Amino acid sequence: MCGIVGFAGTTEAAPILLDGLERLEYRGYDSAGVAVLSEERGLQMKKSKGRLKVLRELTDDGRSMTGHVGIGHTRWATHGEPNDVNSHPHLSQNGLVAVVHNGIIENYLEIKEYLIAKGICFRSETDTEVVAQLLEYYYSNSGDIMSAVYKMLDRIEGAYALGILCVDYPDRFIAARKDAPLLLGYGKDCSFIASDVTAILKHTREVSYMADGEVAVVSSAGIRVFDAMGREIEKERHTVDWDVSAAEKGGYAHFMYKEILEQPEAVRKTMHPRLKDGRVVLDDLKMTAEQIRGFRRLFIVACGSSYHVGVVGKYNLEHLLRVPVEVVLASEFRYADPLVDENCLVIVISQSGETLDSMMALRLAKKLGARVLSIVNVVGSSIARESDDVLYTWAGPEIAVATTKAYSTQMVLLNMLGLYMAELRGTVAPEDYAAVVGGLEALPAQMERVLENTGTIQYLASRYFNHNSVFFIGRNLDYALGLEGSLKLKEISYIHSEAYASGELKHGTISLIEPGTLVIALGTYTPLFDKAMSNVIEVKARGADIVALTTESRRADMEKTAGNVLTVPDAHRLLQPSLGIVPLQLFAYFVALQRGCDIDKPRNLAKSVTVE
Ligand code: G6P
Repeated sequence: MCGIVGFAGTTEAAPILLDGLERLEYRGYDSAGVAVLSEERGLQMKKSKGRLKVLRELTDDGRSMTGHVGIGHTRWATHGEPNDVNSHPHLSQNGLVAVVHNGIIENYLEIKEYLIAKGICFRSETDTEVVAQLLEYYYSNSGDIMSAVYKMLDRIEGAYALGILCVDYPDRFIAARKDAPLLLGYGKDCSFIASDVTAILKHTREVSYMADGEVAVVSSAGIRVFDAMGREIEKERHTVDWDVSAAEKGGYAHFMYKEILEQPEAVRKTMHPRLKDGRVVLDDLKMTAEQIRGFRRLFIVACGSSYHVGVVGKYNLEHLLRVPVEVVLASEFRYADPLVDENCLVIVISQSGETLDSMMALRLAKKLGARVLSIVNVVGSSIARESDDVLYTWAGPEIAVATTKAYSTQMVLLNMLGLYMAELRGTVAPEDYAAVVGGLEALPAQMERVLENTGTIQYLASRYFNHNSVFFIGRNLDYALGLEGSLKLKEISYIHSEAYASGELKHGTISLIEPGTLVIALGTYTPLFDKAMSNVIEVKARGADIVALTTESRRADMEKTAGNVLTVPDAHRLLQPSLGIVPLQLFAYFVALQRGCDIDKPRNLAKSVTVE
């Protein structure tokens, strides 16, 4: 995803820009570029496809460029393939201005046609080049750079964080923002802009966050900020109390991203000691085979993402055990006068083991005579201590508020429990049992494969991050998957998002689908693939933008209807959500990143909810 850094100071700009860009690498990028300005040498620019290493070589680590003012960019291609020409910065026809941009200029084609009709030649396929060309066009007519910038901003539509150099002003650059993150940094005899603070933390902790419509003029002497009407304003300054090493922890900018990547290993660790010679062995259970055979009804009780694991569990455990399974939100269960007795097993799922509603539900279940088995990540937590049986997930500490690896390990463990109980109850055929075990064994490597190919997900996130409303639709396990995918997106990106069982579309939701509504259509549950396709056709007919997720074997079929298709490897059908969730977590992460959200600590949310 695009990253921007800009510098104006009394030292050489290029090495600082390259260093800043390196700190934005985690955002993902396919090309990079820098432009610097000096009175003697004018505007110098270098850009290239590929890693920053290439740019370092091209510029002799920045030493071949001279100038104390400059802008740099890492690009994630949206309009036009990743290549040298489409990389940023973009120069105007006569080389008067250079621009770096994060976001999408939605009306770029119309502006491009307008400028081509005026005789202006375009070099790239990007939406960004229109910003440079339009700005030079207005500047050449008026001779006033600020009024030209405002006129250009008035004309463009879409989302942008912009850094702009103009050859006639070698001591400064201009920044502007709308719906894409950009901050200002105040250093000693130098000033910065950056997409996020990690890029400049080495130089300053004093920052301001640009608001939509603001324009900044950045020089070594300081930063002047103007509102959308051109009136100068005072910006509030904040001191970032992050130290550099925390920001660089593990080489990742966010715990959430790190934890997404840790999932294959966490799943491996959770499964490994419990899979022996093709059998699920749950030595940690005290429940006897007789007790397991005696349950007439199961409940799964949990909150948040743990509840969503329970929804998957309802489908799978009912299938494997042929016994009714009810999945209930802990906060509802505890006040619902539930029909629980000593013939019931109540499974409580909780990462933290401290969620108050889950804890209270556990106590109620025990009081009503049920046996309680918990699936918990934190050893020795309250829920673990009060349960009759505990199965620990071995996800390791999870720091990001939005759970990822705990969710994945809970799901694997619940499926293993289902298999274990089904064998004892004699409700699963040996070949089916072996097929699920084989599927479990294959999961970590399949998850790794999904994690190796994140390019399309990043691309789609940068294309759709500005949508206000998203619907996830799916049937059966895809519905369960959609619940979690939707929660991930809304909790960290603050986009309104809902998950629906596709069959319910016609009972209400379809009235909300209008041209441009984003629908994430889930078609990984292959027994109902054709029905998923029908729903895709229905929402497409109403103008929805569709991002479809299916399995590799169904890609070609899905592509007949949906424009954007993500795939995961084909797994055992009961286990497919373990793979499907990974691209949805990544989509939520990259969308939130693009929107400049506080990913690890979303507003108003807590990792462990210990009050009602
Ligand atoms: C909070 C967390 C979620 C979690 C839920 C239940 O809302 O942000 O990630 O799923 O609590 O927590 P638990 O620790 O019981 O799984």
